[in-house]
Amino acid sequence: MKELLSQFEDYLLDNLPKSNTFHPYFEDALGDMLKAGGKRFRPMLLLSVVKSNKSLLVPNSLPVALGIEMLHTYSLVHDDLPSMDNADLRRGFQTLHKKYDEVTAILVGDALNSEAFNQIVNAPLHNDIKVKLVQELATNGGIDGMIIGQAIDCYFENKKLELNQLEFLHIHKTAKLIAASLKMGAIISEYNEQIQEKLFNFGIDIGLLFQIQDDIIDETQSEEEAGKTTQNDEAKNSFVNLLGLEGAIKAADELAKKCESQLDSLDDGLRDSLNELLLKYINRHKN
Ligand code: IPE
Ligand code: IPE
Ligand code: MG
Ligand code: MG
Ligand code: MG
Repeated sequence: MKELLSQFEDYLLDNLPKSNTFHPYFEDALGDMLKAGGKRFRPMLLLSVVKSNKSLLVPNSLPVALGIEMLHTYSLVHDDLPSMDNADLRRGFQTLHKKYDEVTAILVGDALNSEAFNQIVNAPLHNDIKVKLVQELATNGGIDGMIIGQAIDCYFENKKLELNQLEFLHIHKTAKLIAASLKMGAIISEYNEQIQEKLFNFGIDIGLLFQIQDDIIDETQSEEEAGKTTQNDEAKNSFVNLLGLEGAIKAADELAKKCESQLDSLDDGLRDSLNELLLKYINRHKN
């Protein structure tokens, strides 16, 4: 069987959003950031959970994985806007507001957000499963998740948060969508609710670690290495700004240990399926 990642990339290329009108470049702009690539961490989480006990459902899950990647990609397009983080480079390419214009970047983000849910609704899965998937993505990518995280992230620029507020910010901005990716895989695979919750809570820790590492990347990597604008967190409540670089690395090390033991405590099938992917990410700040 083809590797999950190449199945996903093929599916993505075959299902780029269409807008075949007389607009000179909107359709290109819709596909640019999806095609540009990225780590595809969230879709791989979902597909790895599905593969762990329902490998025959992997092809039917590809639209759901693409839906998550679309919503995530929309969040990046908007995150880079001048009114948010004002970044020129993303996934190794010019950001959409730089390449085209701000209107295009805003509307591409909007379109990818709506299209994410179209992908899920049109997936060849049972309707009751799809309702739950839509609910998870809407909640964790929306007001009670990524959106409130981004709102707090931007509002509190140059205003220092307490450590518990910092955690709230990053859990919402980043961790909830990552946790939802694992849980959505578990919903498709019809794991029981206890396992769904266990995976969600594990995903919160993985997501928090992912954001600490991202903040370390902003501090330590060049934009060529990262493929995105770096040294851009000066005004932010980043882990590096609040804890210092050494403190952020120490926090990442501690959380990485916790994540490794959570990974070990999963049932054999799940652990085997997630191991390779997750160990790579759990330890990425050590490279
Ligand atoms: C970047 O996400 C934004 C964060 C939530 C930290 P990724 O690091 O997953 O970005 P891509 O998808 O690989 O470009
Ligand atoms: C963004 O966090 C998280 C999103 C919800 C998009 P960052 O602003 O740190 O992400 P990068 O560093 O620009 O990728
Ligand atoms: Mg940001
Ligand atoms: Mg940013
Ligand atoms: Mg960042």
